[in-house]
Amino acid sequence: MHDASLTPVALAATLGRRVVGQSRGVEEMAIALAKKLVGLPTGNVLLIGSSGTGKTTLMRAVEEYLAARSDLAHRSTQIRVHANVLAEEAESGRPGEAVVRRLLERARDQLGSDAPLERVVERARDGIVFVDEIDKIRSLIGGEPHLAGIRAQEALLTLMENAAVPVTLPAWAGGGTLNFDAAQLWFVAAGAFEGLYDSVRDRVTLGRDRGALQPTTVVSDGTVRQETRFQLGDWLCNEDLFDYGMSPQFLSRFDSTVLLRDLSVDDLVHIFLESPESGYRQSLAYFAHHGVNLAVSPAAVRRIAEEAAARPRVGARALKEVFRRIVRGYELDPVAAGQDGAILLDLPEVEAALGSPAG
Ligand SMILES: Nc1ncnc2c1ncn2[C@@H]1O[C@H](COP(=O)(O)OP(=O)(O)OP(=O)(O)O)[C@@H](O)[C@H]1O
Ligand SMILES: [Mg+2]
Repeated sequence: MHDASLTPVALAATLGRRVVGQSRGVEEMAIALAKKLVGLPTGNVLLIGSSGTGKTTLMRAVEEYLAARSDLAHRSTQIRVHANVLAEEAESGRPGEAVVRRLLERARDQLGSDAPLERVVERARDGIVFVDEIDKIRSLIGGEPHLAGIRAQEALLTLMENAAVPVTLPAWAGGGTLNFDAAQLWFVAAGAFEGLYDSVRDRVTLGRDRGALQPTTVVSDGTVRQETRFQLGDWLCNEDLFDYGMSPQFLSRFDSTVLLRDLSVDDLVHIFLESPESGYRQSLAYFAHHGVNLAVSPAAVRRIAEEAAARPRVGARALKEVFRRIVRGYELDPVAAGQDGAILLDLPEVEAALGSPAG
């Protein structure tokens, strides 16, 4: 049956309310999810983006959506694991077993503890597996083999290769072993791949593809300049990920690789004002609790976003840190800090706080 709420467009709109400025990533996720939720085969997705650009937020947005749709429970048995936990678990036990056991637990939570084992297994087979911090299981670190990473990639590969995976059943399922058919599982992996940006840029400017990146002519304010603009998405190829330490067999199991872009000042303004996790929203609640109305002027918000955008490699996380420096001085005694129950943070207050030494 056709359900209008399960079209990629509708799903993208829902996910886009939580994830700012990443329309490519949101759309790709929405398309794959739409297929999964109607029971069609869907390709595994690899998300790559700098720290603090919204990878985990996008995964969480999908989780929140699924949690709110109990009518989709039969297609939404979902778990999120950290890749480095997989590495630890791969040391003991059988490859892939830890993931399957979690899926079984999750399916049992959904179905109730008296559901027959066959139903639990059937539902787990249709599961969704999010693997966060996938870049932590590289097979090479500094040119040296990284055993835990190699094992964890192998463990995931076992599951992604659709082979029947032997699993020792937990006590509640009566123990024993089961051959788990992993062919229907859907995988979404995400990682920041720190250092990848520099290594790809080096490849096309100084390294084996030197000269590939050509300066372009830019005209601005009536002057003509030569500028070299590097975008990871224009140059990233599979070999770069192999060199990073992701094995070709493993990577070939992902049908699409999506790059999340670095967030702009406008995106950061939006996240600062709207995100439920924003330090600003938390501060509003804190001051309101003390009967003080906190207001931040639009110019001050913009200045905070600019300051955050200038911090390298932390993305939207910088907003919290920058904003803390500004409100810190008002938090000890909010009532005394306010005038007639109000605090207005405008540009001078922000400049003063940012100009003072950090700490
Ligand atoms: N695109 C975005 N839209 C909305 N909020 C975002 C976005 N990017 C980051 N944030 C906010 O910044 C914080 C960090 O984001 P998130 O955890 O998604 O980063 P990440 O890409 O997973 O980074 P890491 O690689 O370090 O794990 C979150 O609190 C989130 O609210
Ligand atoms: Mg993350």
